[in-house]
Amino acid sequence: MWKLDSWRSRSALQQPDYPDLERLSQVLDELRQLPPLITSWEVLLLRQQLAEAAQGKRFVLQGGDCAERFFYCTPDRIANTLKVLLQMSLVLVVGAQKPVIRIGRFAGQYAKPRSADLERRGTVSLPSYRGDNVNRPEFSAQARTPDPQLLLRGHERAALTLNFVRALVKGGFADLHHPEYFDLDWVEHSPLADEYHHLVETIGESLRFMEHVLGVRAGETDRIDFFTAHEALHLAYEEVQTRCVPRHTGWFNLTTHFPWAGLRTNHPEGAHIEYLRGIENPVGVKVGAEFTREQVACWLEKLDPQRAPGRLTLIHRFGARRIGDVLPKLIEHVRAEGGAVLWVCDPMHGNTQTTSAGVKTRHFADIYDEVEQAFEIHRAMGQQLGGVHIELTGENVTECVGGARGQSEEDLARAYESEVDPRLNYEQSLELAFLIARKMKSEANVSEPRA
Ligand code: PEP
Ligand code: CO
Repeated sequence: MWKLDSWRSRSALQQPDYPDLERLSQVLDELRQLPPLITSWEVLLLRQQLAEAAQGKRFVLQGGDCAERFFYCTPDRIANTLKVLLQMSLVLVVGAQKPVIRIGRFAGQYAKPRSADLERRGTVSLPSYRGDNVNRPEFSAQARTPDPQLLLRGHERAALTLNFVRALVKGGFADLHHPEYFDLDWVEHSPLADEYHHLVETIGESLRFMEHVLGVRAGETDRIDFFTAHEALHLAYEEVQTRCVPRHTGWFNLTTHFPWAGLRTNHPEGAHIEYLRGIENPVGVKVGAEFTREQVACWLEKLDPQRAPGRLTLIHRFGARRIGDVLPKLIEHVRAEGGAVLWVCDPMHGNTQTTSAGVKTRHFADIYDEVEQAFEIHRAMGQQLGGVHIELTGENVTECVGGARGQSEEDLARAYESEVDPRLNYEQSLELAFLIARKMKSEANVSEPRA
């Protein structure tokens, strides 16, 4: 039987090792008293929209930092993140000719899984940095010791971030009728410049089409323009914000609309899947190349026994080189179990490389290559890719190689900021959206004769 804390009887990987458990328990008590960040009706609205995405009627854009930092909680950064996600979504609307669900990896993406518990530098070993909710990245014993107090700071930062997101959206920031505000200087560096300009010109037209179909003004289609998502990694934190509410049955995680289990904690018998199994939120599971038929069956049985579209999203992250071999098998396993999942492609985490100088990066070409193959494979198997999951920032960082400006490995040193994974910058993100929109249009042409 599922209980709020039944995850505690399972193996919980990637949890911080707090030296002061009494302090942890005080902090958790305090968090239990604090108001939630979101509401159950928003959760159910997203679940409904994801169900429509699973049926091919909407497309999901999920994006944001790999590891959100507390110091990112500034008006400029928050506005820049919204801006890039909003602009990408408009470009995608043109390609998809259907509404785009925007989900930010923000307002709580503060806990990170790590491949090693300890980081060694010279003769010194310290706990790995596990995200701002747990410890700090500086390499000192003090900074790396997990501090429960950070959970409170994180909850407050998430609330501040979300509060500003909601205010910006409400105040008309999300007014969708201004593609002329796009910063498109980089487009001139692309051989596809004319096509991109044409696409921007058609944004207004596509939005009007959408408004006509939906019978509402864009930006007012739903009361929510941005949903939030984070990896449900730190289970004690997720637990204390998981609640029952009046007039709805079941338990809701009220820190985020869309929690997901990461690759390192997705074991069907593990604590993370046990926790996610009992909540009403739509949930995601990251899937890497190593999965078995039994594992897929188990995820479906535990997380989506009713096979209800919108409940379960599989976020596949295989890498451009492996997706061709692996995705068809995953699709077959899901079908064999009668699954009705939403398919989202994360083209980031299977394409991470280290340069000869030891810098973690990703190549723009690999990222797009994986998305392009994902569209083709899903179509070839008679279904549709329902969304993309991208690590990005609205800032002008230099963390990924490639894109129209031809960012090189040498450029990475200029503005490399991420403590964890390399993100697409503003221009690369927008360019990726253009390429995806273009791909979606050509996919529509390929599949049309069958209709
Ligand atoms: C992430 O999304 O930042 C992440 C760690 O991904 P994955 O669990 O797929 O490796
Ligand atoms: Co990442």
